[in-house]
Amino acid sequence: MKKIRWGIIGTGRIAHKFAEALKGCEEAELCAVASRTMEKAEKFAAEFGFRKSFCSYEEFAERSEAEAVYIATPMASHFNDAMLCLTHGKNVLCEKTVTLNSAQLEILLKTADENGLFFMEAMWMKCRPVYLKAKEWALSGRIGDIRFIKADFSNTVPYDGNDRLFRPDCGGGALLDLAVYPVTLAADILGNEPAEIISSAHISDCIDLSNTIIMRYPDGSYAAADSGFELTLRNNAVISGTKGMIVFGDGFFYADDITLYDENRRPVESFSCKDKINGYEYEIGEFCRCLNSGLTDSPLVPRSGTAAVMRILDECRRQWGLKFPQE
Ligand SMILES: NC(=O)c1ccc[n+]([C@@H]2O[C@H](COP(=O)([O-])OP(=O)(O)OC[C@H]3O[C@@H](n4cnc5c(N)ncnc54)[C@H](OP(=O)(O)O)[C@@H]3O)[C@@H](O)[C@H]2O)c1
Repeated sequence: MKKIRWGIIGTGRIAHKFAEALKGCEEAELCAVASRTMEKAEKFAAEFGFRKSFCSYEEFAERSEAEAVYIATPMASHFNDAMLCLTHGKNVLCEKTVTLNSAQLEILLKTADENGLFFMEAMWMKCRPVYLKAKEWALSGRIGDIRFIKADFSNTVPYDGNDRLFRPDCGGGALLDLAVYPVTLAADILGNEPAEIISSAHISDCIDLSNTIIMRYPDGSYAAADSGFELTLRNNAVISGTKGMIVFGDGFFYADDITLYDENRRPVESFSCKDKINGYEYEIGEFCRCLNSGLTDSPLVPRSGTAAVMRILDECRRQWGLKFPQE
């Protein structure tokens, strides 16, 4: 497999984890990193072994030889950063939530198409072997007809008005930061077009601190997703069917194991898989595989799924009367 020349924009927490995985992937070449300050760019490049460092995202887009770019900046910056890369001929892996809303995402996808470039949401959950096994079990009828999905994700974070998580101008709130995972699970298994969405949120200072979302599908099946910065949840997920259920370990989107139970709640089969590095290696592998195959869309993380989740998140905010200052 041809090695892909990778670049990273932003040198924060997740960029460090991603770079650690990138370093261990034989299909990846560590090409360049961009930060807003030279000191951080050089430190990051030295730590992981990137050949070049840039102290401006624009300069990186114009001058670096990276052909794939991982965008690891805060939510509200994704649109501009991804546009910068796409208009300079670079393929993009963009952190979740990819944009603030569907309107921004549509422009990004159109730009990717116009330039014949690959674009993928960094929804690492969808590339992990444990998740793929759960999906295989669910969609091959192992638990009968799927009727219900329950998934939750909380992080207890004390309020800090300066933190991006609580700032409306940064795309703050539990919806975009946390709910994107349970909603993605529901849409991936039950479908991209719920017939009905019922949601409610605890809103404070123009962001949601917690929320609950029900997605009802035309065949009567439904999903329930809860998330929040002020809750303590198991962060687990259950896919329930007429003949059994699939239970993810706690931290469902990074869980190492799942168990399939029959309709009498007796365990039937378990599957476990420890990450080779830290879990981000699978999305890197998927990205490199797709790019080397000449694809512009990933079969595991299709653009249609990303767009569907974005529409659901938009609808929740519409129901809550919540807009970001950019809207
Ligand atoms: N996949 C996952 O498991 C996962 C986990 C956590 C977060 N995320 C996502 O990853 C993205 C980044 O999250 P993070 O926790 O890594 O954030 P972070 O630690 O705050 O890092 C973000 C980086 O973006 C750059 N940046 C550009 N404009 C900025 C601005 N106006 N304010 C602050 N930083 C700015 C900075 O890098 P420079 O100073 O070098 O330019 C900063 O270090 C978010 O979209 C988040 O939702 C994903």
